Amino acid sequence: MKEENTDIQEKPFKPSSPTNRLSFKAEWEYAEAPESTDHISIEDRYGLFIDGKFIEPEKGRYFKSINPANEEVLAEIAEATQQDVNKAVEAARNAYEKTWSKLEAKERGKYIFRIARLIQERAREFSVIETMDGGKPIRESRDVDIPLAAAHFFYYAGWADKLEYAFPGKEVTSLGVAGQIIPWNFPLLMLAWKIAPALATGNTVVLKPAETTSLTALKFAELCRDAGLPEGVVNIVTGAGQTGSHIVDHDDIDKIAFTGSTEVGKIIMKTLAGTDKKYTLELGGKGPNIIFEDAPIDQAVEGIINAIFFNQGHVCCAGSRLLVQEGVADKVINKLRDRMETLIVGDPLDKNTDVGAINSKQQYEKINEYLELGVDEGADIFQSSADLPDNGYFCKPTIFTNVAQSNRIVQDEIFGPVLTVQTFRTAQEGIEKANNTPYGLAGGVWTDKGSKIFRVGQNIDNGVVWSNTYNQFDPTSPFGGYKESGVGREGGLHGLYGYVKFK
Ligand code: NAI
Ligand code: MG
Repeated sequence: MKEENTDIQEKPFKPSSPTNRLSFKAEWEYAEAPESTDHISIEDRYGLFIDGKFIEPEKGRYFKSINPANEEVLAEIAEATQQDVNKAVEAARNAYEKTWSKLEAKERGKYIFRIARLIQERAREFSVIETMDGGKPIRESRDVDIPLAAAHFFYYAGWADKLEYAFPGKEVTSLGVAGQIIPWNFPLLMLAWKIAPALATGNTVVLKPAETTSLTALKFAELCRDAGLPEGVVNIVTGAGQTGSHIVDHDDIDKIAFTGSTEVGKIIMKTLAGTDKKYTLELGGKGPNIIFEDAPIDQAVEGIINAIFFNQGHVCCAGSRLLVQEGVADKVINKLRDRMETLIVGDPLDKNTDVGAINSKQQYEKINEYLELGVDEGADIFQSSADLPDNGYFCKPTIFTNVAQSNRIVQDEIFGPVLTVQTFRTAQEGIEKANNTPYGLAGGVWTDKGSKIFRVGQNIDNGVVWSNTYNQFDPTSPFGGYKESGVGREGGLHGLYGYVKFK
């Protein structure tokens, strides 16, 4: 039963006749082009990286990191308990007081530049491991994740000895020890967003990667050692939510930086309320991607594809709600469905692959629940006819039409390759629909008219609005949300604020 809603009746979508559909699958055959894995090394088992050394976890417990594309075990990862987190914080505190905060700023900068260069040198290895551990297409880890991670270190290395220009007329100091918790969708890149500004401003860190994607953080620990970074400046503790909460609760941590779900963000905010810890939270999103009638339609369709299918839709700023102006709705949806048919879903290590594996079994199950829910809510589902591999966690690119604003598939962050499609008539209606979720992270506007870009961009409550493009990232550009999408900004000059205090 479809719930009654008070929305303006949306025109039901009629697919174009079968005769004018394109048949890419029959005509375009790609030879396999897998990236080789013989140049990488993964240990069977990883300890915790504390005070410059890999050590055994106190309780001796390990968990498995698997490759979501074939369900094979890649390595065993240490589970850090309270005592382990205490050790890491102690190491970070020591390093802060004895070495890192005593170093001249330009010397700190040199270490960060060295880290950036080492990431570039080992980019191929990092890309392959990122793809094996997390399921993202090699093309994306190779061309986006790893180069951007290096770029973040280069960018913040440059700030290390120029903070007086970042904060003119003010004197700033570091905070001390930063506790950082990151998610599984961009593992090394999120590590870079966290560690680069913290080190550049003179702090030391204890970072916890997500439990399904710890490997590149552990490889990064090796890289810190190779860079000669003083011991204890960067500590990597692995584990799940419990380990994360030990970091959040720790008395001797001065700042918490978290990226992850809004649900956990709220728990962290409650824990930190009334303490003098600083915090930044980068949380979920349900990004509106708004297409006006005067938009360049073919480019917009590419933008829709990029917005929702990049990284299997595991993107906090994904354009997961398409809002298309009524007059071009049929045209856009037809072109979108045709374009979806060309997406290659499969082996993430294959350079032809557009959509890789869903990051974990848990996420795979969550997405499938939403697919069922969407149908139950009365929406029409369309999935590409891509063949999926027999093993591993894969999901077909999916769109839901005939949805209502109140549907859960429109309101909740699904975090998968699933797009909802709504129509609107006037710019005002588009803006109202865009703003009608608890989130406010990012969105897109597609139109030929500059004034419309500004009007819509200024009226949607999102930290980031892209116009006639989507998912553009740059270390110089601040990023962060409104409403339930978070607190504070990361990236750019703004990203320095979270790691300093004014004298
Ligand atoms: P999550 O928020 O539980 O995990 C993110 C990180 O927080 C991980 O490192 C996790 O170990 C840690 N964590 C979990 N509970 C914690 C706690 N109580 N205290 C401190 N740290 C804790 O996200 P999860 O369960 O992996 O994914 C669930 C949903 O969250 C996804 O379906 C997606 O909708 C959303 N999500 C959003 C992300 C974003 O970038 N906005 C990233 C990851 C997930
Ligand atoms: Mg994994």
